[in-house]
Amino acid sequence: MENIDWKNLPFSYIKTDYNVRCYYRNGKWGELETSSSEYAMLHIAATGLHYGQEIFEGMKAYRGQDGRIRLFRCRDNAQRFINSGSYIQMAAPSVELFVEAVKKTVKLNERFVPPYESGATLYIRPLLLGSGAQIGVKPADEYLFIVFVTPVGPYFRTGFKPVNVMLTRDSDRAAPLGTGHIKCGGNYAASLPAIIGAQQLGYATCLYLDAKEKKYIDECGPANFFGIKNNTYITPDSNSILPSITNSSLIALAKDLGMKVERRPVEISELETFEEAGGCGTAAVITPIGKIFDPEYNKTYDYGSEAGAVSEKLYNLLRAIQYGDAPDTHNWVEFVD
Ligand SMILES: Cc1ncc(COP(=O)(O)O)c(C=O)c1O
Repeated sequence: MENIDWKNLPFSYIKTDYNVRCYYRNGKWGELETSSSEYAMLHIAATGLHYGQEIFEGMKAYRGQDGRIRLFRCRDNAQRFINSGSYIQMAAPSVELFVEAVKKTVKLNERFVPPYESGATLYIRPLLLGSGAQIGVKPADEYLFIVFVTPVGPYFRTGFKPVNVMLTRDSDRAAPLGTGHIKCGGNYAASLPAIIGAQQLGYATCLYLDAKEKKYIDECGPANFFGIKNNTYITPDSNSILPSITNSSLIALAKDLGMKVERRPVEISELETFEEAGGCGTAAVITPIGKIFDPEYNKTYDYGSEAGAVSEKLYNLLRAIQYGDAPDTHNWVEFVD
C-alpha cells in the first residue's frame, strides 16, 4: 500500500477493501460472501442487539522477512470462538469455516498487510451475532458471522516500556460463574467502568480481583496477568479469566526455557514477591507492568521502570516465531498464500 505511513499507524480502525460474511439460516451455514461495505443490515429485534448474543475474536496476520503472511494459532482462536458461541447458545461456525473465512479476508486485503519490520500488523476481527428476531429472552435462530481486518500500528510506540496499573475493588468484569471465560461483548461493556476509571487517574488499565472474595488477581484490563519469580512463570487460574492464546504460548516458551510454570490462584499479597509482572495478549504480546497501585491501602508494588529480563526474553521469542524469524517448533504458524 503506497499511501499508508506504516511506521506511524495508530492502533485504530482503518477501512480496508473487503470483509467476508456468512449467514446461518434454517439450521445451516451458507456460503462465504465477500462484501466491500462496512455496514451490515440488521433486524431491529436481532438478539445480538438486545440480549448480548455477540462474540468475537482478536488475532493478527504478520508479514515475515520472506514476504509471506503468517497467522498465529488461528485454530485456537477458532476453537475459542466455538466455545464462546456455544456457551451463550449461539450457532458457531466450524473450525474449518472460521479458518477459511479468516484466510480469505486476509488474502482479499493483502495490500493492507504491513511490511516486515514496520512494527505494524494486520488485525483480524471475526465476530458472530444473533441476527434472528426474538422478543423473548431466547437464542436467535439466525446468525451472522463476519470477518474484517484493519492494519494497526505497534502497541508500544515508545518501545517495550512498563506501564502502571491500578487494582480495582469497586467493580467486576465477570461473575464467578458468569461469562468471563468466553469472549462475548457483554464482558467488555462490564469492564469499561474500571478501565476508564483507572485511565482517568492516569493508569494504563486496571487489575481486576476475583468477584467473590476480592482476594485473588484476575484479568489485567483486556489481558491476562503473569508474574515472574524464582525462575517460575506464574499466572492466575480462574473461571472468570479468558484463556489467552498468548498466555498459553508464553507458558510453552517458558517451559522450553527451562522455567517452572504455575497456573493457580494468585493472592494479592503475592504481588509483593514477584520480580517481574506483566499483562499478555494478542495486541502487545507482553505489556510489562512497572507499578501496581492499590488505592484501598494506598500501597504500590514496584517492578521497576524497565522491562524485566525474563519478560523481554519471552516477548522476543514469541515475536520471532510470529514473524518467522525463529523456528516454529510448536507448529503454531499457518501461512496465507
Ligand atoms: C479479557 C481478555 N483477556 C485476555 C486476552 C488475551 O487473549 P489472547 O492472548 O488470546 O489475545 C484478551 C484479548 O483477546 C482479552 O480480551
